[in-house]
Amino acid sequence: MSTVPETYNDKVIRQFAVMTVIWGIVGMLVGVLIAAQLYWPALNFDIPWLSYGRLRPLHTNAVIFAFGGSGLFATSYYVVQRTCHATLFSPRLATFTFWGWQAVIVLAAITLPLGLTSGKEYAELEWPIDVLITLVWVSYAVVFFGTIAKRKIRHIFVANWFFGAYIITIALLHIFNNMEIPVTLWKSYSLYSGAVDAMVQWWYGHNAVGFFLTTAFLGMMYYFVPKQAGRPVYSYRLSVVHFWALISIYMWAGPHHLHYTALPDWAQSIGMVFSLILLAPSWGGMINGMMTLNGAWEKLRTDPIIKFMIVALSFYGMSTFEGPMMSIKTVNALSHYTDWTIGHVHSGALGWVAMITIGCIYSMLPRVLGLKAMYSTRMIEQHFWIHTTGVVFYISAMWIAGVMQGLMWRATNDDGTLTYTFVESLKATYPYYLARLGGGVLCLSGMVLMLVNVLKTLQMSKGNVDVAIPAPAHT
Ligand code: HEM
Ligand code: HEM
Repeated sequence: MSTVPETYNDKVIRQFAVMTVIWGIVGMLVGVLIAAQLYWPALNFDIPWLSYGRLRPLHTNAVIFAFGGSGLFATSYYVVQRTCHATLFSPRLATFTFWGWQAVIVLAAITLPLGLTSGKEYAELEWPIDVLITLVWVSYAVVFFGTIAKRKIRHIFVANWFFGAYIITIALLHIFNNMEIPVTLWKSYSLYSGAVDAMVQWWYGHNAVGFFLTTAFLGMMYYFVPKQAGRPVYSYRLSVVHFWALISIYMWAGPHHLHYTALPDWAQSIGMVFSLILLAPSWGGMINGMMTLNGAWEKLRTDPIIKFMIVALSFYGMSTFEGPMMSIKTVNALSHYTDWTIGHVHSGALGWVAMITIGCIYSMLPRVLGLKAMYSTRMIEQHFWIHTTGVVFYISAMWIAGVMQGLMWRATNDDGTLTYTFVESLKATYPYYLARLGGGVLCLSGMVLMLVNVLKTLQMSKGNVDVAIPAPAHT
């Protein structure tokens, strides 16, 4: 290893980190708007591009790919450099990934409200944008694996395995699910049809959850939780078992999204069985993350960043317990089509994904700015409580609403007729939609507070940011 102080390529990390916060606000704002529309349908003002059907995919794309994606680019570039003691391979390509990814997001924000969509959930963007995504993603892979290849540390730290698996799998999923025949510049048709199309879509959809929203954020977790706690990973061996078990099982669970459909029954059962098995590695990983705090539990009282991380892990544990339960066919018969699914989604998304991202950005940003800490720790503490309260409101409202809807829809009278009309179940849901809206507003306010803290931190670092920041002596 060289003895000369190394410097890392942190500019692209700072850019992605700031955009994570900005896209978080945009994505959650659209989330709040569609949550409000579900309560006050007139809020679309009869303007097509403000209609629920067009804004909903804008919300999912903005929060998953813009907010989550920018957070993942930032942290993976940070972690791979620190754990390999190497600067990013091809800084130019890294810069291209930043501008390319932002261009994808802006194009999504224009085309989705215009109603230009390929109609596949989480893969709505039309073919020219798909091509741009492919170019950015291949460049990302070259930068990431190129940096691993030029590493000065022989061992590849486990977080990089998680990031690496996510980069490869997302490339695979994106290419195969978007096999389409363009008919005009903004319209294409899927190469697949019928049940095959549905299967490919949910193989994609589920693994987008498994690799984008889970595996990649676990990569974040395995680096930043030990770093913030000042403790080694509780069991490094368990982290390796966690990795291999998770990536080999996730791939087969997709059919649980297609229970009671035209998909062959055996395929649905395979999906259910693999989902149940998935509970084990998921909880192994959660326990490994939490136990990393062993010997430093007092930090849970004093450090709001650790609070974000540990509560994120708790939500990870909750959603990965709930998911396998919902994949049991008889449970799914109740939960499917109801707001229970939306509750599950947001306990994973707002609880796990958003909280681990927020915690890691608070932990990482000062380091790439040559500072010791964020501008205000108090504001982080306030953000933690606002966000946690918001998530609890959101998901408990949706759980109650979901189970109530499922029970109302299946209730029958003695003569076999339905006890409730659909409209009655909708009316009963309204108070819960209002509670969810309240939860969403809290989460959004927390993000605005984060932006203020970030801007103040950037101000504090003026003059620092362009100087080379010496590499730490250890990973
Ligand atoms: C062991 C882990 C998990 C399993 C087995 C699982 C299982 C399930 C099941 C059975 C559904 C309902 C499918 C339906 O009825 O349509 C579902 C929906 C969903 N889950 Fe999970 N889940 C897991 C973890 C997670 C996590 C951690 C997240 C987020 C970070 C997540 C995000 C989602 C999303 C976004 C949907 C909705 C998909 C859609 O219909 O658009 N899941 N999951
Ligand atoms: C202020 C915070 C948020 C609010 C108010 C919000 C609101 C909503 C609403 C109203 C829906 C549509 C539900 C329906 O169709 O019945 C939705 C869907 C969804 N949201 Fe959010 N959301 C927020 C944050 C997030 C975050 C941070 C993520 C991901 C990291 C996320 C991921 C999703 C996904 C994947 C769906 C589609 C679920 C499905 O198809 O089953 N949301 N959100």
